[in-house]
Amino acid sequence: MPPDLSPIDRAKRAAALRAAEFVEDGMRVGLGTGSTAAWLVRRLGEMVRGEGLTILGVPTSEQTAALARAEGIEVITLDEAQRLDLTIDGTDEFDAELTLIKGGGGALLREKIVAAASDRMIVIADTGKKVETLGAFPLPVEVIPFGWRSTRALIEETLISMDVAGREVALRGGAEAPFVTDEGNHILDLHLGRIGNPRQLAMVLNQIPGVVENGLFIDLCDVVVVGAEDGRIELRDINAGTVERGFAPAPGAGNLFADPEGKSA
Ligand code: 5RP
Repeated sequence: MPPDLSPIDRAKRAAALRAAEFVEDGMRVGLGTGSTAAWLVRRLGEMVRGEGLTILGVPTSEQTAALARAEGIEVITLDEAQRLDLTIDGTDEFDAELTLIKGGGGALLREKIVAAASDRMIVIADTGKKVETLGAFPLPVEVIPFGWRSTRALIEETLISMDVAGREVALRGGAEAPFVTDEGNHILDLHLGRIGNPRQLAMVLNQIPGVVENGLFIDLCDVVVVGAEDGRIELRDINAGTVERGFAPAPGAGNLFADPEGKSA
């Protein structure tokens, strides 16, 4: 355990350590993007280098691809893999149905394609990502650069008839230096406050010319692993209808998440 981890990183790492236990030898694994997913990639790197694990990784961003390679994980493209056994990724928000808002790191398009190509999606999160109603986190929508202002205007018009609390739409990075995704697109962040009907909103947004994909992940996530800063984890499997509570595993000696009371799940 790195000694100077912040509480939030301890929580993210705890979730990642538990999720890594789902990865089996020979699997083709989708590798998510963001700080939580980075903990997962680092742990899988340890397992590959030190524990004889053999996997093929499909990264959801160039950033994750670089980290995976540096960690010694064999990286292939989604076209080479075609179908994945498992994807493990972070999230910006999740609700009781395991509907997600993703794209805070700007990788929602590849993340959604990879998740959809996977037999199973496991989301790893700290406790702050759990919400009653989605929408406090601005919903990222990936749009092509051509005519993005027209696309924004159409989105704003569409939002008038949607069950949302706010309607501000902002180009990520601003017009002077817009954020550019790995696919060469821009991100519009929709400040909605509350999303009353995520399924309807996701469908309507994707009908708008210029919209490539939205950050609502619906019926994609099977399992969420939530980590806390003291190393506790809660694992919810939406298909099995089960909830597991325990402690994150403690790979390596001296791990601060070792369970002194023997409560590990
Ligand atoms: C990237 C994502 C990330 O998974 C999401 O933003 C969470 O990031 P972090 O783990 O750093 O909190 O969707 O596009």
